[in-house]
Parts: sequence; C-alpha cells; structure tokens
Amino acid sequence: MPAIKAILCRVGKLSFLLLVPVLFTLKSSAQVRSIINFDKGWHFHLGDTTNAEQSTFTDANWRVLNLPHDWSVEGTFSKDNPATPEGGALPGGIGWYRKTFTVPVSAKSKLIYIDFDGVYQKSTVWVNGHELGFRPNGYISFRYELTPYLNFGGQNTIAVKVDNSVQPNSRWYSGSGIYRNVWLVTTGKTAIDHWGTYVTTSEVSAQSAKVDLKVKIRNNVSLSKIGIETKIYDALGKIVAAVGNIISKKDQQDSIINFDQVIPLDKPILWSVDHPYLYKIVTQVTVDGKMVDDYTTPLGIRYFNFDADKGFSLNGKHLKILGVCDHHDLGSLGSALNYRALERQLQELKEMGCNAIRTSHNPPAPELLELTDKMGFIVMDEAFDCWEWAKVKYDYHLYFKQWHKRDLEDQVLRDRNHPSVIIWSIGNEIPQQADTSALRIAPDLAAIVHSLDKTRPITTANDRPDTNNKIVKSGAIDLIGYNYHEYDYAKFHDRYPGKKFIATETTSDLQTRGHYDMPSDSIRIWPSRGDDKFVGNADNTVSAYDNVRPPWGSTHEATWKAMKKYNMLSGFFIWTGWDYLGEPTPYSWPSRSSYFGIIDLAGFPKDVYYMYQSEWTNKPVLHIFPHWNWTPGQTIDIWAYYNHADEVELYVNGKSVGIKKKTGDDLHVMWRLKFEPGTLKAVSRKDGKVVLTQKIHTAGKPAKIELNADRSVINADGKDLSFVTVKILDKDGNVVPDASNLVNFKINGNAFIASVDNGDPVSHDPFKADYRKAFNGLALAIVQAKETPGNITFTATADGLQPATITIKAK
Ligand code: GAL
Repeated sequence: MPAIKAILCRVGKLSFLLLVPVLFTLKSSAQVRSIINFDKGWHFHLGDTTNAEQSTFTDANWRVLNLPHDWSVEGTFSKDNPATPEGGALPGGIGWYRKTFTVPVSAKSKLIYIDFDGVYQKSTVWVNGHELGFRPNGYISFRYELTPYLNFGGQNTIAVKVDNSVQPNSRWYSGSGIYRNVWLVTTGKTAIDHWGTYVTTSEVSAQSAKVDLKVKIRNNVSLSKIGIETKIYDALGKIVAAVGNIISKKDQQDSIINFDQVIPLDKPILWSVDHPYLYKIVTQVTVDGKMVDDYTTPLGIRYFNFDADKGFSLNGKHLKILGVCDHHDLGSLGSALNYRALERQLQELKEMGCNAIRTSHNPPAPELLELTDKMGFIVMDEAFDCWEWAKVKYDYHLYFKQWHKRDLEDQVLRDRNHPSVIIWSIGNEIPQQADTSALRIAPDLAAIVHSLDKTRPITTANDRPDTNNKIVKSGAIDLIGYNYHEYDYAKFHDRYPGKKFIATETTSDLQTRGHYDMPSDSIRIWPSRGDDKFVGNADNTVSAYDNVRPPWGSTHEATWKAMKKYNMLSGFFIWTGWDYLGEPTPYSWPSRSSYFGIIDLAGFPKDVYYMYQSEWTNKPVLHIFPHWNWTPGQTIDIWAYYNHADEVELYVNGKSVGIKKKTGDDLHVMWRLKFEPGTLKAVSRKDGKVVLTQKIHTAGKPAKIELNADRSVINADGKDLSFVTVKILDKDGNVVPDASNLVNFKINGNAFIASVDNGDPVSHDPFKADYRKAFNGLALAIVQAKETPGNITFTATADGLQPATITIKAK
C-alpha cells in the first residue's frame, strides 16, 4: 500500500458539523457508476415525419444502424445542394433517430442519463414522448436526465430529431446526424456531477507537485456522513498517492456538495509532447460508509509559460508550437466519429513532427482530447467561428446570444482536465473585430472561461492584427493570435508592447497530391475569396510544388522561415494538416474538398510533408519529387527535401547531374533538367558518407495492383478499421504516377468496406462504395471489422491488371 500523503480538505458553501480527514475502508469495491456505450441499434429515417417522438410510433420500417452516423456523406455531390461546395456539396435535411431499450426495475433507485458527444445540428431529444431539450450547436456535448420519465421494467424510447435543413450554415463540411458517440450513464442518488471534477497542478518540479482536485457531488438523499477517497494511479496502474475526507452533515436533498482535495505527489513524471506521461485519478464517494460512486479524471502533470519575448516553454524548456489546424471530418468517413480514423490522422501528423492541433473552429470530439493527451499534442481548443454577426447566412450567429454562455461553459467543463489542452480560443476571424460590440463580447466570453479555468490563456484568431482590433482592445485576450499576416510579425512588439504572441493560423498553400506544373519556382496567387473562377488548370488540379497560394496566405516554406526568425512567436498552426471536405478554395465546382492539407483527404502525404519531417524530426529524410514520367525533352524541376546531410547528388541513368547544397535558410534544393526516361537517383551525404539514397524509375503501363494494410490485425469490435492503400504498379513494381484505373473491391469475412477514396478533390464518385478509381496511382479502401473474430480477405481487381488479395485478421 502506498504511503498516505498529507491530507488537506476544504468544503464548499455547505455548512457542516464535522470535518475529518481519513482514508476509509470501503464496504464495496464494485463499480457503482455505469457508462454504457449507447451507439447500437438505432432506427433512422431521413426526412421529417410526424409523431415520431411518441413511444407508440412504429419505426419498424426505418433503417437500423449503429452510431456514430453521418447521413450527408452517404449522399450525392451536387453544387445545388444547399450546403454549397463550400459546405462540401453534400445533402443536409432533417433526420430522425429512435432507439428502444429496457430498464430493469432494480434501477429504480438510480439516476439515469443520456450523454450525446455531438449532434449536427439543432437536435431535439425526447424520451417516451417527453421532450428533454433542444441544442442548436452541432459541436457541443450535452446530457439529459431520463430518470423521471422511464418505465422501469418496461420499454423506453429515445427519439432524436436532427435538423440540418436550413443551409448554408457552415463554411466547411459539417456532416449531419448523431455523428459522435452516445452514452447511457447510471449513477446512484449521490454521485459526482456531470463533468464534476476539476484537476489542476501547481508547484511542479522534478521533486514534487501539488495536485488540486475539486469535486462536485450532486446529492438526492438524506445523509449523515459523506466522504470521498481519491487515489492517483501511475501509468502502470500503481497507486502513488491517496487522500480521503469525510464530512458529517445534516444535509438536505437536492444539494451540491463540494470537496477540494490537495494531493502532494513525489517525483512526478511530467507530461510533454515527447513523453506524454499520464496518471489517472480515481475518486470514490461514500455515504455513511458505503461506496456510492466512482469517477475517473485524467491527469497529466506539466507546466508551461508564454513569454512576450521568448515564446512558449513546456516544463521549463523552450518549445516551438509546431501545429496544424484541422476540421473534424474524417475524409471519406464524413464526420462520423471513429477512434481509429482520428488516431491515424494524428499518427501521420506526429510522424511529420507536428506537436500541436487547433480544433478549428469548434469543440472537438472528446476522443480527440483523449488521443492528444495520450500521443502528446498541445491543443488549442476553439469555441466559435462567429459571434453575433454571420459569416454564412444560417450559421451559429443565429444562436449566439441565447446559447454562447451555456455552450462555452459546457466546452470548458468538459475539456479542462485534459493536460493536452493549453490554449482556449474564443473565436476565429470574428467579423466583430472591427466593431465596438467586441468590447462587450470578448470580455464576457473571457469571463465565462476564466470562471471555470484560470490556468490557460485565452486567445482569438485574428485576421485584423492592427491596433484597432476591438477584441484586442477589449483587453480580454491573454495571448494575441494572428491569422496570416506573417509580414507583420516584425511589427508585433511595436504594435503590442509587452504582449504574448501566437500565429493562430498560417499558410493556406494549395496542392493536389501528385500533380506538378512547371516551372516550380514562380509563386502563383489565386484570386480572392468569393471569386468563383478557378484560374488554373482546367481539370482543377493545383501544382504540388508549394507555390500556389491565395492572396491572404503564404507558402509553407515562407511561413516556416518566418516562424524560425522570431523567438517571441510561441508557434503556429498551419492551415491545414489534412485536407477536409468543403472549402475548395477558390470556390470552384466541380471541386468539393480542400486543397490546403499537407496530407490529402485519403491520408496520402503531399510532398511538403517531407519538408516538415526534415525540419521537425530527427529522422533522416531524403525526399525527391516529382515522378519521372514526362515527355522526352520536357524541362522538369526536381526538388529534394533532406536533412542530416550536407549535400545531395542527383544522377540520371547513372550520370551525375550535379551536387546541390542548401545555403542560408534554404529548405530544399532543386535541379532543372530535360527529361529522359530511365532512373533518377538521389544520394544524400554527410562528410562524404552516404546517408540516404532514393530512386525513381520511369514507370511503364499499369500492370498490377498492390495492396498494403496499415494494420493487418484489428479488433473484432464493430468499430476498428484497417486502411488499405491500393497502388497501381507497372510490371516492374513502379507506381504508375498518373494511373486512374477503376478498381473493384471484394471482401469476405466479418468486415465491410466503410468507405473508399483516392484524395482527388474533384471526384464525385460516392465514398460509400466497393469501387474507386485510382488518382495519380493511388486509392484507399477502409475496412471495418464486425464483431466476430476471424480472417477477412480483401481483394482488388481492375480490367487488364493483375489482381491482389490480402488477409486481415479480426481478433
Ligand atoms: C482562414 C479561415 C479558415 C479557412 C482559411 C482558408 O481565413 O480562418 O477557416 O477559411 O482561411 O484559407
């Protein structure tokens, strides 16, 4: 047993007779709180209907599905869909969900709640015909209590109406439906409240830390003594500290009881982006000696500082925040939350050296924060894309006045225990930056956040960095955020003496994976926002040489160079890590998804990924591009991103065409050559010794398919995924860089194809299909496990090509 640490206890507002610090022996160790995933077996109807909230309604003809579910991504792309191409060109509408379930009579002594992690949007929820409430915000998590309306021992029906019919209501793809998880939570009548703990740490050093846990208990019974015992477990599950408190009280029913425990911890292992060490806090509640609740709170111990001159530091060490902005969609899976899909997004970013995520421009799925805690990302947790003024006609500005307080409070209460959350953002490019109303709203929002968490700075992502910015003028912001305007970084301290600085959004460089226009060294600036003429390639491709940008943006290299120059800059968030559905800037049908990602929608890295990897990781990198399939005699620019070497030599068909070295602040080297078919070989060297070699061969005609599963063993849990990359190869095994063969998929075993993609922002083929054309040589099929273990055989065939089969095991 661990040594019992010093015990401190304060009690909230309530009067008490006795306060006894004690570590008690619990009468029961059984789990008293139950949290059940409630995703399975919902009935769904697309379209409005009458009386569907009533228990007596018959939904037998409705489609049966498991959540999370996004009905938009199942639809057909059309520029006439009211979401517009900016919103992803997919249908919205109204949808109804119903689920019938039983509750045992024995649960009568319990309190039962339903928790929704996110419903897009305007949801109304009923249980047994009784309306529980309405939430307009599509990104917020919320709970309803079911207890008073349940039939114990009988059938119960939850009905949810989701209204995403009034569009456009978003500047990017939102998805529609109950697109995040749903939970059924059962507690006793004395239990820790919803999001009822708050953990902070202080006096953190290598020797010790103070963990401060505030616990809010909701009590519905008469009691004489209530106690809590809190244990801290390390990552191996060992108890490293514990504290217990009992208060005796003459308490009323329907009361709130607050405990405040301060728990010293010896030799804490700190949480950081490189070593995201997590503890777990388990709090047990007793009433008159009997255990009535237990509750887990995540714990990561870290401290950080933003400094006006030196930028950001984590645990006392300087750290540049190397972040990306991402929207919430998961590419071809739409916005339907899937843990593995989200994890894969983060893994690819981590491999690139990225250490931070901005949840643009809304509260994320709770799983994102679980993953960022676990994987080591700093999070800028954002609340709003608009306040009272609209960006698009039917966006959240319609609800802001009535709902902002509730929504912002819920976001902070839900997310404030995550060590990865380091910055709160109360708005992105708020149009009211220019208006005196910001002097009222910004302090109001900041006060809401600070009333619940004072440990993190508040920022806004400003596209008006001048001193007339009313949000900044209001004094509400701890950390001044610039979107773009990197040419203004130098003026920052003259403008805002003594202020702390972060580049909340940068770059917006556009690229199509695998597409290259010559020459590569002139910057192309795309027309301004709102201009719907796609000035560029007739097929809506955009060159992947990091040289095409909108007027407000800048190239990846220019941004990163600026970023390196200024110590005062805490860091930045590139727009964007991954391509996302919607916002195909410039707004250019037939495109229906973005070009901004460092990684395409299917998850295939664009070339610039390796520029970041060469700069941000210690991994040796040599990446040359483009492909080597051109017209003989054509002038081609060959770029190399590299590190750990002082030169790169390029050979064409065995003949050296020159050694190149980066000088000054160069981030790549380039050769300009006349194309001749054959082999391009690059060799990077350090002190004359070969570090890495890369070869690209001119590919012949498509001859065969190659399949690679990212994971060949997955969990038979109905949710896990294997991402299968489909490559079109010539007879010698080279990827054919312009291959667009139509590939058909077949699956045998207990799995199904969740979706398909190829990263092409212009394709209107459905994502929910068992076929996909390759795009620039590649396609993707996402295999989803069912719930029975066994082997899954996945086969890909295409006319005239040698087929391929792989086996994935579900266990
Ligand atoms: C920013 C905006 C983002 C996205 C981006 C595209 O101004 O904050 O949401 O629209 O432009 O470049």
